[in-house]
Formats: sequence, C-alpha cells, structure tokens
Amino acid sequence: MLIFDHVHFYYKKGQPVIQNMSFTIESGQFVAIVGANGCGKSTIAKLINGLLLPKEGHVKFNDLDTSSPIELHKIHKQIGFVFQNPEDQFITTSVIDEIIFGLENISVPREEMRSRLDHALRAVQMEDYLHSMPHELSGGQKQRVAIAAIVAMRPQIIIFDEATSMLDPQGRRQVLSIMQELHRQGMTIIHITHHMEDVLSAERILLIHQGRLEFDGDPLVFFETMPVTDYQLELPFGVRLYQMLQQKTPFLADWKEMISSQWSIN
Ligand SMILES: Nc1ncnc2c1ncn2[C@@H]1O[C@H](COP(=O)(O)OP(=O)(O)O)[C@@H](O)[C@H]1O
Ligand SMILES: [Mg+2]
Repeated sequence: MLIFDHVHFYYKKGQPVIQNMSFTIESGQFVAIVGANGCGKSTIAKLINGLLLPKEGHVKFNDLDTSSPIELHKIHKQIGFVFQNPEDQFITTSVIDEIIFGLENISVPREEMRSRLDHALRAVQMEDYLHSMPHELSGGQKQRVAIAAIVAMRPQIIIFDEATSMLDPQGRRQVLSIMQELHRQGMTIIHITHHMEDVLSAERILLIHQGRLEFDGDPLVFFETMPVTDYQLELPFGVRLYQMLQQKTPFLADWKEMISSQWSIN
C-alpha cells in the first residue's frame, strides 16, 4: 500500500508544486495519473520512490516512510521506474548486460540470475534479443528491455512516467499490454500519461491540476463528469463517439415519433 499523507512539496520556497496531497494506492491497483504539462506528475513519481522528499506530510510504502534513510533503502528495492525516452534507459551495451547490471545492483545471487533474466525477457517477449545491442532495437523494443530489467528486480510497484509517449502506435500497444499483464499478475502499476486512450485500461484515475488532486476515481466516471478539455486533455475516441450518439438520441426519438405519426391510420 502506498500512502500520500498531506504532502507538500516545492523546488523553490514560495512556489509550491505539490499542495496538500493525500491518496492511498492499494497493492495490485492499476492507476493512471493525468494532468497538463507541468502540473506535478513527475514530481509525484519522484516523491513516491523517495528521489524527492516532502517538505511537509509523509509518503509511505507499507509501514516504511521515505523520509527515513534506512526505510528509504528498502522502499527503493520495491519500486521500479520506466522513463519517457527509451534512449536514456540503457546503461550497458547489450540486453543481457542491462538486466544483469540491475540484478548485481541489488545483490541477486549468481545462480538466481539466469532464471530471473529468462522470465523477465519472456514477460516482454524479447527472449530472442538476449545478445542484441541497444542501437539495433526499435524504440518500443528498447522500452520493453527497460521494463524487463525492472521486472527482473521483482519490485511491487512499477511507475511508467510517460513511457509510451515517444513510441509508435505498435510500440505503445505492446507496452500497454505488458502493463496489463503485469497488473494481472498482481503488480501495482502507476501509469503517468497524456494519452487518454491509454487510461481506459486503468482501474482508477488521479487528475492533477496545479499540484492538487482534482479527481480520484473510475475512468468512465472521469470522462462523464469532468470537463477534461479544461485540463488540456482530450476525450478518448470511444468516449467522444458515445457522447455524440447520446446527443443524437433525442433527435432519434423525435424522428421515430414523427414517422409513426405520419404512418398512423387516424
Ligand atoms: N528540478 C526542478 N527544479 C525546479 N523546478 C522544477 C524541477 N522539476 C520540475 N520543476 C517544476 O515543477 C513543476 C512540476 O513539474 P513536473 O512534476 O515535471 O510536471 P509534469 O511531470 O506534470 O509535467 C513545473 O512547474 C516544473 O517547471
Ligand atoms: Mg513529467
């Protein structure tokens, strides 16, 4: 369980970035975090994994508090991060080294590495690319290797910070379906995104507006009740179509009435 408890944060004093933010994410949830550019989404992600610490309030993972250095060390192992730019993800020069590097960092025993490596590459369908070099891979494939490196470390939460935004539609679909599969296996997924089509697969949406939590709930309720364009977001195609059809329904009813009255014998 991840808890934001009345969190305040600023980079420069007097310019608040996160204001009085409280929410709880249960273990195993699939949550999308949305909001306009600069509203504070990446800052929230960095507060979750303790890269940034709250100026007031607490960020807790289970019973661990990010503001305690000893507890933060334990939290780090439980939270994986996938970033926006697949080019930036690679530290080493091959797929296998990339995954082994991460495992060495968290002191996984040698004999356990192979099974973790195989499992992680299978999870992202990149098992045929064990010895490939990063520059040989497409953006989507690079992103899948970055995910594998994290899956191999077996975190409880993976945060995807705009991780689909630089991918082509096929790469995006593949990464999305990996997220769904990891969620199905019980992992907590936090997906920060601008793509409103993507958030329909989440169980819950958090809308951030100027550093405050503006909406917290079901995606369908979100699109029904919130003026999303006011927050520089777009309605997904399916929702736009549904709303258009709904608007037509009264007309449709009138039209049917008109026809039946025309045809009535009296
Ligand atoms: N390292 C930083 N130093 C100072 N200001 C920052 C820094 N990182 C982000 N900001 C500012 O904090 C606000 C929130 O940024 P961010 O969390 O990156 O938003 P988002 O990810 O939603 O686009 C923005 O106004 C941004 O300019
Ligand atoms: Mg960001």
